[in-house]
Amino acid sequence: MSKAAARTGSGPMVTVAIEQHFPKDQRITDDDQAYPILPFGMRAFVWLMRPAAARDWMVRASEKAIPGIWGGMMCRKRYIDEKLVESADQINAVVNLGAGFDTRSYRLPVLADIPTWELDHQANIESKRARLRRLFGEVPAHVRLVPIDFDREEPGAVLASQGYPADRRTFFVWEAVTQYLTETGVRATFDFLAEATQGSRLAFTYVRQDFIDGQVLYGQEAAYNKYVVKDKIWLFGFDPEGVGEFLQEYGWYVVEHLGYEELAERYVKPTGRELASTPIERMVYAERR
Ligand SMILES: C[S@@+](CC[C@H](N)C(=O)[O-])C[C@H]1O[C@@H](n2cnc3c(N)ncnc32)[C@H](O)[C@@H]1O
Repeated sequence: MSKAAARTGSGPMVTVAIEQHFPKDQRITDDDQAYPILPFGMRAFVWLMRPAAARDWMVRASEKAIPGIWGGMMCRKRYIDEKLVESADQINAVVNLGAGFDTRSYRLPVLADIPTWELDHQANIESKRARLRRLFGEVPAHVRLVPIDFDREEPGAVLASQGYPADRRTFFVWEAVTQYLTETGVRATFDFLAEATQGSRLAFTYVRQDFIDGQVLYGQEAAYNKYVVKDKIWLFGFDPEGVGEFLQEYGWYVVEHLGYEELAERYVKPTGRELASTPIERMVYAERR
């Protein structure tokens, strides 16, 4: 895994933290832990964005660079939050694959007693651990922070070494991660997911394969030039038509497969804000049967 890919770990939470500067009825997602969990430099940046003019400029600048990026990040947080809350009484473990600085384990009351494993690159794990110690005195007892490189290590073996009992009905979160992996890394993760207990859930996002391949850019040239060409950190994509079949190879069945326009209809429209929705990323919610 490249250092550049690891550096993306805090970006989504920086935007979610800035989103909290909007009045509650205009917020797409609520997260009172987004600001506290960030490392110092990023907290300072978020703090500077408090005035409405600065906050609005930040949203506009992000949207100008990559239309749909702001609403997309908010919508995927909100959707996965809702799925976790809905299924909390039907699962008895959470595994967040590529958790970055995600705060759900520390924020959603329904998860407070559910054993949780958060996996990410070592640098992000260490930085998050340090921050959690500052905030709570120690990493909360229900959470294990686990370093991994999905492209080189097997999640099953790594998780087993960290006390994860594979027979737990688990909610797997894999948010904004698949595009950063090689196909080998994605398939190794699915080999592990294939062993999941029946009734386990998986919420994951992916970027369209035709975009990663440069065949169709969907008006998102800037994103293509940045993530695929220049930084070379977006490596893998799915063909939306093939997602269901791909999952079935591993014993998983699609419950919901959504474009971001549909997510924006649910979560952005009620706020009255006008934000583009990204055509290149999609959301899948699936169940192990
Ligand atoms: C865009 S961030 C998303 C973070 C978090 N899931 C969220 O949505 O807030 C992508 C995350 O994937 C992690 N990642 C990417 N490639 C990885 C790899 N090969 N092994 C472990 N983590 C990886 C990065 O370190 C980063 O935290």
